[in-house]
Amino acid sequence: MKKPTLYDKLIKYNKKVYPLHMPGHKLGRKINSANLAKIDVTEVRGTDNLHNPTGIISEAQEKAAITFGAEKTYFLVNGSTGGIISTISTICNEKDKILIARNCHKSVYNAILINNLEPIYIYPEIMESNGIVAGVDPYHIEENLIKYPSIKLVVITSPTYEGFLSNIEEIAKIVHKYNKVLMVDEAHGAHFKFNNYFPKTSIEQGADIVIQSTHKTLPAFTQSAMLHVQSTRIECNKLQKELAIFQSSSPSYILMNSLDSCRELLDRKGNKLFNKYTKDLKKCREALKNRLNNLKLIDKNVIGINQIMDIDYSKIVIDCSKTNITGVELDKILRNNYNIQVELSSINHIIAMTSICDSRYGIKKFTKALIEIDKQLNKINKKGKKYDIINHVLKYYNPKVVSYKTKTNVLLKDSVGKIAGEFIIPFPPGIPMIVPGEIITKESIILINRYIDLDIEIMGLEDNQKTITIVNEV
Ligand SMILES: Cc1ncc(COP(=O)(O)O)c(C=O)c1O
Repeated sequence: MKKPTLYDKLIKYNKKVYPLHMPGHKLGRKINSANLAKIDVTEVRGTDNLHNPTGIISEAQEKAAITFGAEKTYFLVNGSTGGIISTISTICNEKDKILIARNCHKSVYNAILINNLEPIYIYPEIMESNGIVAGVDPYHIEENLIKYPSIKLVVITSPTYEGFLSNIEEIAKIVHKYNKVLMVDEAHGAHFKFNNYFPKTSIEQGADIVIQSTHKTLPAFTQSAMLHVQSTRIECNKLQKELAIFQSSSPSYILMNSLDSCRELLDRKGNKLFNKYTKDLKKCREALKNRLNNLKLIDKNVIGINQIMDIDYSKIVIDCSKTNITGVELDKILRNNYNIQVELSSINHIIAMTSICDSRYGIKKFTKALIEIDKQLNKINKKGKKYDIINHVLKYYNPKVVSYKTKTNVLLKDSVGKIAGEFIIPFPPGIPMIVPGEIITKESIILINRYIDLDIEIMGLEDNQKTITIVNEV
Protein backbone atom coordinates (compact mmCIF):
# COMPACT_ATOMS: atom_id res chain seq x y z
CA MET A 1 0.00 0.00 0.00
CA LYS A 2 1.25 3.46 -0.81
CA LYS A 3 1.89 5.68 2.22
CA PRO A 4 0.56 9.26 2.37
CA THR A 5 3.04 11.60 0.74
CA LEU A 6 2.89 14.68 2.90
CA TYR A 7 3.02 13.66 6.56
CA ASP A 8 6.40 11.96 6.74
CA LYS A 9 8.04 14.61 4.60
CA LEU A 10 6.68 17.43 6.74
CA ILE A 11 7.67 15.77 10.00
CA LYS A 12 11.15 15.23 8.59
CA TYR A 13 11.30 18.91 7.69
CA ASN A 14 10.08 19.83 11.19
CA LYS A 15 12.81 17.75 12.83
CA LYS A 16 15.61 19.00 10.64
CA VAL A 17 15.07 22.71 10.31
CA TYR A 18 14.98 25.70 12.62
CA PRO A 19 12.11 27.75 11.11
CA LEU A 20 12.66 31.49 10.77
CA HIS A 21 9.52 31.67 8.71
CA MET A 22 5.78 31.64 9.22
CA PRO A 23 3.53 30.41 10.75
CA GLY A 24 4.17 32.26 13.99
CA HIS A 25 3.72 29.12 16.10
CA LYS A 26 7.02 27.91 14.61
CA LEU A 27 5.92 24.41 13.71
CA GLY A 28 4.06 23.58 16.86
CA ARG A 29 5.52 25.63 19.69
CA LYS A 30 3.04 27.11 22.22
CA ILE A 31 0.06 25.70 20.42
CA ASN A 32 -2.12 22.95 21.78
CA SER A 33 -2.67 20.55 18.92
CA ALA A 34 -3.83 17.57 20.95
CA ASN A 35 -7.39 16.38 20.37
CA LEU A 36 -8.05 18.66 17.43
CA ALA A 37 -10.20 16.09 15.66
CA LYS A 38 -12.57 16.19 18.65
CA ILE A 39 -13.42 19.84 18.04
CA ASP A 40 -13.62 19.60 14.26
CA VAL A 41 -17.38 20.09 14.23
CA THR A 42 -19.57 22.07 11.91
CA GLU A 43 -22.35 24.63 12.38
CA VAL A 44 -24.93 22.30 13.88
CA ARG A 45 -27.28 23.14 16.73
CA GLY A 46 -25.27 23.76 19.86
CA THR A 47 -22.31 25.31 18.06
CA ASP A 48 -22.40 28.55 16.06
CA ASN A 49 -22.09 29.76 12.47
CA LEU A 50 -19.22 32.06 11.46
CA HIS A 51 -21.42 33.57 8.76
CA ASN A 52 -24.18 34.48 11.20
CA PRO A 53 -22.58 34.32 14.63
CA THR A 54 -24.88 34.55 17.64
CA GLY A 55 -23.27 32.17 20.14
CA ILE A 56 -19.77 30.98 20.92
CA ILE A 57 -18.15 32.44 17.78
CA SER A 58 -19.72 35.80 18.46
CA GLU A 59 -18.41 35.66 22.03
CA ALA A 60 -14.91 34.65 20.90
CA GLN A 61 -14.84 37.46 18.33
CA GLU A 62 -15.94 40.01 20.95
CA LYS A 63 -13.08 38.92 23.22
CA ALA A 64 -10.64 39.21 20.31
CA ALA A 65 -11.90 42.74 19.55
CA ILE A 66 -11.02 43.78 23.10
CA THR A 67 -7.58 42.16 22.99
CA PHE A 68 -6.69 43.55 19.56
CA GLY A 69 -8.18 46.97 20.31
CA ALA A 70 -10.94 47.12 17.68
CA GLU A 71 -14.63 48.01 17.78
CA LYS A 72 -15.49 44.80 15.99
CA THR A 73 -13.43 41.77 14.98
CA TYR A 74 -14.23 39.05 12.46
CA PHE A 75 -12.45 35.71 12.41
CA LEU A 76 -11.13 34.71 8.98
CA VAL A 77 -10.56 31.11 7.93
CA ASN A 78 -9.22 31.85 4.48
CA GLY A 79 -6.31 34.03 5.51
CA SER A 80 -6.08 37.79 5.07
CA THR A 81 -6.81 37.01 1.42
CA GLY A 82 -10.50 36.36 2.18
CA GLY A 83 -10.76 39.47 4.35
CA ILE A 84 -9.14 41.71 1.75
CA ILE A 85 -11.41 40.54 -1.08
CA SER A 86 -14.52 40.77 1.13
CA THR A 87 -13.67 44.30 2.31
CA ILE A 88 -13.08 45.62 -1.18
CA SER A 89 -16.31 43.95 -2.35
CA THR A 90 -18.19 45.57 0.56
CA ILE A 91 -17.04 49.09 -0.12
CA CYS A 92 -16.74 49.24 -3.91
CA ASN A 93 -19.34 48.68 -6.61
CA GLU A 94 -18.70 47.85 -10.25
CA LYS A 95 -16.58 50.46 -12.09
CA ASP A 96 -15.72 52.33 -8.88
CA LYS A 97 -12.28 53.83 -8.52
CA ILE A 98 -9.96 52.40 -5.89
CA LEU A 99 -6.64 53.96 -4.90
CA ILE A 100 -4.06 51.31 -4.09
CA ALA A 101 -0.38 51.28 -3.33
CA ARG A 102 1.19 49.42 -6.22
CA ASN A 103 2.96 47.04 -3.82
CA CYS A 104 -0.34 45.57 -2.62
CA HIS A 105 -0.71 41.80 -2.32
CA LYS A 106 -2.23 39.91 -5.26
CA SER A 107 -5.53 39.48 -3.38
CA VAL A 108 -6.15 43.23 -3.80
CA TYR A 109 -5.75 42.84 -7.58
CA ASN A 110 -8.00 39.80 -7.59
CA ALA A 111 -10.68 41.83 -5.79
CA ILE A 112 -10.29 44.53 -8.45
CA LEU A 113 -10.86 41.94 -11.17
CA ILE A 114 -13.77 40.24 -9.43
CA ASN A 115 -15.56 43.56 -8.88
CA ASN A 116 -14.52 45.16 -12.16
CA LEU A 117 -12.99 48.21 -10.48
CA GLU A 118 -10.83 50.95 -11.85
CA PRO A 119 -7.51 50.93 -9.98
CA ILE A 120 -5.38 54.01 -9.54
CA TYR A 121 -1.87 53.15 -8.45
CA ILE A 122 0.39 55.07 -6.13
CA TYR A 123 3.99 53.99 -6.22
CA PRO A 124 5.81 53.42 -2.94
CA GLU A 125 9.37 54.66 -2.58
CA ILE A 126 12.19 52.23 -3.30
CA MET A 127 15.37 52.12 -1.17
CA GLU A 128 18.22 53.35 -3.30
CA SER A 129 20.90 51.05 -1.88
CA ASN A 130 19.17 47.69 -2.26
CA GLY A 131 15.94 48.09 -4.25
CA ILE A 132 13.64 47.10 -1.38
CA VAL A 133 10.13 48.60 -1.43
CA ALA A 134 9.70 51.22 1.30
CA GLY A 135 6.79 53.51 2.34
CA VAL A 136 4.06 55.49 0.61
CA ASP A 137 4.09 59.27 0.55
CA PRO A 138 0.84 60.64 2.10
CA TYR A 139 1.14 63.61 -0.26
CA HIS A 140 0.52 61.30 -3.27
CA ILE A 141 -2.63 60.04 -1.62
CA GLU A 142 -4.02 63.54 -1.20
CA GLU A 143 -2.97 64.44 -4.74
CA ASN A 144 -4.97 61.50 -6.12
CA LEU A 145 -7.99 62.07 -3.89
CA ILE A 146 -8.16 65.61 -5.28
CA LYS A 147 -7.64 64.46 -8.86
CA TYR A 148 -10.18 61.60 -8.66
CA PRO A 149 -12.89 62.68 -6.20
CA SER A 150 -14.97 59.56 -6.90
CA ILE A 151 -12.37 57.21 -5.35
CA LYS A 152 -14.20 54.95 -2.88
CA LEU A 153 -11.44 53.22 -1.00
CA VAL A 154 -7.73 53.63 -0.28
CA VAL A 155 -5.68 50.46 0.27
CA ILE A 156 -2.19 50.50 1.78
CA THR A 157 0.07 47.66 2.87
CA SER A 158 1.74 48.54 6.16
CA PRO A 159 3.98 46.95 7.31
CA THR A 160 5.50 45.61 4.12
CA TYR A 161 6.93 42.10 3.99
CA GLU A 162 10.25 43.59 5.10
CA GLY A 163 8.55 45.32 8.04
CA PHE A 164 8.46 48.93 6.82
CA LEU A 165 5.55 51.09 7.93
CA SER A 166 4.05 54.04 6.13
CA ASN A 167 2.70 57.03 8.00
CA ILE A 168 -0.79 55.58 8.51
CA GLU A 169 -1.78 58.28 10.99
CA GLU A 170 -1.21 61.00 8.40
CA ILE A 171 -2.75 58.90 5.61
CA ALA A 172 -5.87 58.22 7.72
CA LYS A 173 -6.30 61.96 8.39
CA ILE A 174 -6.07 62.72 4.67
CA VAL A 175 -8.42 59.90 3.64
CA HIS A 176 -10.99 61.00 6.22
CA LYS A 177 -10.67 64.66 5.22
CA TYR A 178 -12.09 63.56 1.86
CA ASN A 179 -14.60 61.30 3.58
CA LYS A 180 -13.20 58.09 2.10
CA VAL A 181 -12.41 54.74 3.66
CA LEU A 182 -8.90 53.51 4.52
CA MET A 183 -8.17 49.79 4.57
CA VAL A 184 -4.74 48.74 5.77
CA ASP A 185 -3.36 45.34 4.90
CA GLU A 186 -1.54 44.67 8.17
CA ALA A 187 -1.08 41.00 7.34
CA HIS A 188 2.40 41.12 8.87
CA GLY A 189 1.54 43.16 11.96
CA ALA A 190 -0.77 41.05 14.14
CA HIS A 191 1.78 41.14 16.98
CA PHE A 192 2.17 44.94 17.14
CA LYS A 193 -0.33 45.50 19.92
CA PHE A 194 1.44 43.33 22.46
CA ASN A 195 4.68 45.15 23.21
CA ASN A 196 5.76 48.71 22.65
CA TYR A 197 9.02 47.55 21.10
CA PHE A 198 6.77 47.21 18.04
CA PRO A 199 5.07 50.00 16.10
CA LYS A 200 1.57 51.30 16.74
CA THR A 201 -1.16 49.29 15.02
CA SER A 202 -3.06 50.78 12.09
CA ILE A 203 -6.22 50.67 14.19
CA GLU A 204 -4.45 52.87 16.76
CA GLN A 205 -3.43 55.18 13.94
CA GLY A 206 -6.98 55.69 12.66
CA ALA A 207 -7.52 53.21 9.78
CA ASP A 208 -11.13 52.11 9.22
CA ILE A 209 -10.50 48.45 8.44
CA VAL A 210 -7.36 46.50 9.25
CA ILE A 211 -6.65 42.94 8.22
CA GLN A 212 -4.07 40.82 10.01
CA SER A 213 -2.75 37.35 9.22
CA THR A 214 -2.69 36.13 12.80
CA HIS A 215 -0.99 32.98 11.52
CA LYS A 216 2.02 34.87 10.20
CA THR A 217 3.40 36.40 13.39
CA LEU A 218 1.42 34.91 16.28
CA PRO A 219 0.80 31.32 17.38
CA ALA A 220 -2.21 30.44 15.22
CA PHE A 221 -2.72 27.93 12.45
CA THR A 222 -2.04 28.82 8.81
CA GLN A 223 -5.05 30.50 7.18
CA SER A 224 -6.39 31.83 10.47
CA ALA A 225 -6.58 35.62 10.37
CA MET A 226 -8.63 38.53 11.68
CA LEU A 227 -10.38 41.54 10.26
CA HIS A 228 -10.76 44.52 12.60
CA VAL A 229 -13.20 47.38 12.10
CA GLN A 230 -12.88 50.75 13.80
CA SER A 231 -15.21 53.02 11.90
CA THR A 232 -18.73 54.20 11.26
CA ARG A 233 -18.02 54.24 7.53
CA ILE A 234 -18.37 50.47 7.13
CA GLU A 235 -21.66 48.65 6.50
CA CYS A 236 -21.01 45.67 8.76
CA ASN A 237 -24.07 43.73 7.53
CA LYS A 238 -22.79 43.88 3.98
CA LEU A 239 -19.29 42.94 5.13
CA GLN A 240 -20.66 39.87 6.93
CA LYS A 241 -22.41 38.80 3.69
CA GLU A 242 -19.30 39.30 1.58
CA LEU A 243 -17.23 37.31 4.07
CA ALA A 244 -19.69 34.45 3.60
CA ILE A 245 -19.22 34.64 -0.17
CA PHE A 246 -15.43 34.60 -0.15
CA GLN A 247 -14.87 32.06 2.60
CA SER A 248 -15.81 28.43 2.98
CA SER A 249 -19.40 27.56 3.86
CA SER A 250 -17.87 25.06 6.30
CA PRO A 251 -15.55 27.30 8.36
CA SER A 252 -13.09 25.21 10.31
CA TYR A 253 -13.49 25.22 14.08
CA ILE A 254 -9.88 24.11 14.25
CA LEU A 255 -8.89 27.45 12.75
CA MET A 256 -11.41 29.49 14.73
CA ASN A 257 -10.33 27.78 17.95
CA SER A 258 -6.75 28.54 17.02
CA LEU A 259 -7.58 32.26 16.87
CA ASP A 260 -9.49 32.11 20.14
CA SER A 261 -6.71 30.16 21.87
CA CYS A 262 -4.11 32.60 20.56
CA ARG A 263 -6.15 35.48 22.00
CA GLU A 264 -6.45 33.67 25.32
CA LEU A 265 -2.70 33.03 25.46
CA LEU A 266 -2.02 36.70 24.76
CA ASP A 267 -4.44 37.80 27.50
CA ARG A 268 -3.03 35.36 30.01
CA LYS A 269 0.68 35.36 29.29
CA GLY A 270 1.24 37.91 26.53
CA ASN A 271 3.28 40.34 28.64
CA LYS A 272 5.63 37.65 29.91
CA LEU A 273 6.08 36.00 26.50
CA PHE A 274 6.68 39.28 24.71
CA ASN A 275 9.09 40.53 27.37
CA LYS A 276 11.27 37.47 26.99
CA TYR A 277 11.01 37.48 23.21
CA THR A 278 11.85 41.17 22.78
CA LYS A 279 14.80 40.77 25.12
CA ASP A 280 16.17 37.98 22.88
CA LEU A 281 15.39 39.99 19.77
CA LYS A 282 17.17 43.09 21.07
CA LYS A 283 20.27 41.04 21.90
CA CYS A 284 20.23 39.46 18.45
CA ARG A 285 19.83 42.81 16.69
CA GLU A 286 22.54 44.42 18.83
CA ALA A 287 25.00 41.61 18.02
CA LEU A 288 24.21 41.74 14.30
CA LYS A 289 24.49 45.52 14.23
CA ASN A 290 27.91 45.47 15.87
CA ARG A 291 29.46 42.32 14.50
CA LEU A 292 28.50 42.13 10.85
CA ASN A 293 31.13 43.73 8.64
CA ASN A 294 29.90 42.80 5.17
CA LEU A 295 26.28 41.83 5.56
CA LYS A 296 24.09 44.56 7.00
CA LEU A 297 21.16 44.39 9.37
CA ILE A 298 18.38 46.71 8.27
CA ASP A 299 17.80 48.73 11.39
CA LYS A 300 16.19 51.88 12.73
CA ASN A 301 18.48 54.17 10.73
CA VAL A 302 16.13 53.69 7.74
CA ILE A 303 13.31 55.40 9.67
CA GLY A 304 12.59 58.81 8.20
CA ILE A 305 14.00 57.86 4.79
CA ASN A 306 11.91 56.78 1.77
CA GLN A 307 8.66 57.44 3.65
CA ILE A 308 9.48 54.76 6.22
CA MET A 309 7.70 55.91 9.36
CA ASP A 310 8.74 53.01 11.56
CA ILE A 311 10.04 49.45 11.31
CA ASP A 312 8.97 46.12 12.73
CA TYR A 313 11.94 44.79 14.70
CA SER A 314 10.58 41.24 14.59
CA LYS A 315 11.69 40.97 10.97
CA ILE A 316 15.41 40.40 10.69
CA VAL A 317 16.20 41.73 7.26
CA ILE A 318 19.77 41.21 6.11
CA ASP A 319 21.07 43.28 3.24
CA CYS A 320 23.67 41.49 1.08
CA SER A 321 23.93 44.19 -1.55
CA LYS A 322 27.50 45.13 -0.61
CA THR A 323 28.80 41.57 -0.51
CA ASN A 324 29.90 38.96 -3.01
CA ILE A 325 26.75 36.85 -2.46
CA THR A 326 23.05 37.26 -3.21
CA GLY A 327 20.24 36.80 -0.72
CA VAL A 328 19.40 33.51 -2.41
CA GLU A 329 22.96 32.25 -1.81
CA LEU A 330 22.87 33.37 1.82
CA ASP A 331 19.58 31.50 2.26
CA LYS A 332 21.21 28.38 0.79
CA ILE A 333 24.23 28.59 3.11
CA LEU A 334 21.94 28.96 6.14
CA ARG A 335 19.86 25.97 5.02
CA ASN A 336 22.68 23.66 3.99
CA ASN A 337 25.26 24.46 6.65
CA TYR A 338 23.11 25.45 9.63
CA ASN A 339 19.66 23.87 9.05
CA ILE A 340 18.06 27.29 9.32
CA GLN A 341 15.28 28.20 6.91
CA VAL A 342 14.39 31.85 6.43
CA GLU A 343 11.11 33.20 5.07
CA LEU A 344 12.26 34.94 1.92
CA SER A 345 15.41 35.39 -0.08
CA SER A 346 15.88 37.64 -3.02
CA ILE A 347 18.65 39.29 -5.00
CA ASN A 348 19.86 41.65 -2.31
CA HIS A 349 18.36 40.46 0.93
CA ILE A 350 16.85 37.79 3.14
CA ILE A 351 13.98 38.08 5.61
CA ALA A 352 13.96 35.99 8.78
CA MET A 353 10.67 36.01 10.67
CA THR A 354 10.67 35.72 14.43
CA SER A 355 7.85 35.42 16.96
CA ILE A 356 7.13 34.77 20.64
CA CYS A 357 7.44 31.08 19.81
CA ASP A 358 11.10 31.30 18.86
CA SER A 359 13.44 29.77 21.35
CA ARG A 360 16.43 31.66 22.74
CA TYR A 361 18.50 28.82 21.30
CA GLY A 362 17.06 29.37 17.80
CA ILE A 363 17.63 33.11 17.76
CA LYS A 364 21.18 32.68 19.08
CA LYS A 365 21.91 29.96 16.52
CA PHE A 366 20.82 32.31 13.72
CA THR A 367 22.85 35.22 15.13
CA LYS A 368 25.99 33.10 15.39
CA ALA A 369 25.50 31.63 11.92
CA LEU A 370 25.24 35.07 10.33
CA ILE A 371 28.34 36.34 12.15
CA GLU A 372 30.27 33.25 11.06
CA ILE A 373 29.13 33.50 7.42
CA ASP A 374 29.88 37.21 7.37
CA LYS A 375 33.54 36.54 8.20
CA GLN A 376 33.93 34.54 5.02
CA LEU A 377 32.44 37.19 2.74
CA ASN A 378 34.00 40.07 0.90
CA LYS A 379 32.74 43.56 0.58
CA ILE A 380 32.24 44.59 -3.00
CA ASN A 381 30.85 47.68 -4.57
CA LYS A 382 28.18 46.51 -6.97
CA LYS A 383 27.70 49.24 -9.51
CA GLY A 384 24.63 50.06 -11.55
CA LYS A 385 20.96 50.48 -10.87
CA LYS A 386 19.50 48.28 -8.17
CA TYR A 387 16.55 46.07 -9.01
CA ASP A 388 13.04 47.41 -8.80
CA ILE A 389 10.37 44.83 -8.08
CA ILE A 390 7.59 47.07 -9.34
CA ASN A 391 7.02 47.76 -13.01
CA HIS A 392 6.86 51.55 -12.66
CA VAL A 393 4.80 52.79 -15.61
CA LEU A 394 3.15 56.06 -16.45
CA LYS A 395 0.39 54.53 -18.51
CA TYR A 396 -1.61 51.38 -17.91
CA TYR A 397 -4.92 49.86 -19.00
CA ASN A 398 -7.64 48.52 -16.74
CA PRO A 399 -6.79 44.87 -15.86
CA LYS A 400 -10.43 43.81 -16.27
CA VAL A 401 -10.69 45.31 -19.76
CA VAL A 402 -7.46 43.52 -20.64
CA SER A 403 -8.80 40.19 -19.37
CA TYR A 404 -11.36 40.11 -22.23
CA LYS A 405 -8.83 40.73 -25.02
CA THR A 406 -7.07 38.18 -27.18
CA LYS A 407 -3.57 37.40 -26.07
CA THR A 408 -0.36 35.87 -27.36
CA ASN A 409 2.73 34.49 -25.66
CA VAL A 410 5.98 36.09 -26.80
CA LEU A 411 9.61 35.59 -25.81
CA LEU A 412 10.57 37.69 -22.81
CA LYS A 413 13.01 39.74 -24.85
CA ASP A 414 10.32 40.61 -27.40
CA SER A 415 7.79 41.82 -24.83
CA VAL A 416 9.27 45.23 -23.94
CA GLY A 417 6.82 48.02 -24.77
CA LYS A 418 3.91 45.57 -25.13
CA ILE A 419 0.82 45.45 -22.90
CA ALA A 420 0.99 42.72 -20.26
CA GLY A 421 -1.81 40.15 -20.41
CA GLU A 422 -1.07 38.29 -17.17
CA PHE A 423 0.15 38.92 -13.66
CA ILE A 424 3.84 38.26 -13.13
CA ILE A 425 4.32 37.54 -9.46
CA PRO A 426 7.58 36.51 -7.78
CA PHE A 427 6.76 34.31 -4.81
CA PRO A 428 7.14 35.17 -2.02
CA PRO A 429 6.24 38.02 -1.46
CA GLY A 430 3.21 37.69 -3.77
CA ILE A 431 3.32 41.31 -4.93
CA PRO A 432 2.71 41.59 -8.68
CA MET A 433 5.78 42.82 -10.45
CA ILE A 434 3.69 43.25 -13.59
CA VAL A 435 -0.09 43.74 -13.63
CA PRO A 436 -2.23 43.01 -16.72
CA GLY A 437 -2.68 46.25 -18.63
CA GLU A 438 0.76 47.65 -17.78
CA ILE A 439 3.30 48.37 -20.47
CA ILE A 440 6.17 45.94 -19.94
CA THR A 441 9.45 47.72 -19.24
CA LYS A 442 12.99 46.68 -20.11
CA GLU A 443 13.89 46.84 -16.39
CA SER A 444 11.17 44.31 -15.54
CA ILE A 445 12.46 41.86 -18.13
CA ILE A 446 16.04 42.22 -16.87
CA LEU A 447 14.78 41.54 -13.37
CA ILE A 448 12.66 38.54 -14.44
CA ASN A 449 15.73 37.02 -16.12
CA ARG A 450 17.73 37.63 -12.97
CA TYR A 451 15.06 35.88 -10.89
CA ILE A 452 15.04 32.95 -13.29
CA ASP A 453 18.86 32.69 -13.00
CA LEU A 454 18.56 32.63 -9.22
CA ASP A 455 15.75 30.07 -9.31
CA ILE A 456 13.28 32.39 -7.58
CA GLU A 457 9.73 31.18 -8.21
CA ILE A 458 7.81 33.43 -10.58
CA MET A 459 4.14 32.88 -11.27
CA GLY A 460 2.60 33.91 -14.58
CA LEU A 461 5.31 33.08 -17.11
CA GLU A 462 4.57 30.48 -19.79
CA ASP A 463 6.46 27.88 -21.85
CA ASN A 464 8.91 26.91 -19.17
CA GLN A 465 9.57 30.54 -18.21
CA LYS A 466 10.56 31.49 -21.72
CA THR A 467 7.47 33.47 -22.71
CA ILE A 468 5.16 36.09 -21.30
CA THR A 469 1.53 36.75 -22.19
CA ILE A 470 0.78 40.02 -23.94
CA VAL A 471 -2.41 41.61 -25.20
CA ASN A 472 -2.69 41.87 -28.96
CA GLU A 473 -4.75 45.03 -28.98
CA VAL A 474 -6.71 47.10 -26.47
C1 LIG B 1 1.19 41.86 2.54
C2 LIG B 1 0.33 40.64 2.47
N1 LIG B 1 -0.99 40.78 2.43
C3 LIG B 1 -1.83 39.72 2.38
C4 LIG B 1 -1.32 38.44 2.35
C5 LIG B 1 -2.27 37.28 2.30
O1 LIG B 1 -2.31 36.71 3.57
P1 LIG B 1 -2.88 35.24 3.85
O2 LIG B 1 -1.79 34.29 3.52
O3 LIG B 1 -3.20 35.28 5.31
O4 LIG B 1 -4.09 35.05 3.02
C6 LIG B 1 0.07 38.24 2.37
C7 LIG B 1 0.62 36.89 2.30
O5 LIG B 1 1.77 36.64 2.24
C8 LIG B 1 0.91 39.37 2.43
O6 LIG B 1 2.24 39.23 2.45
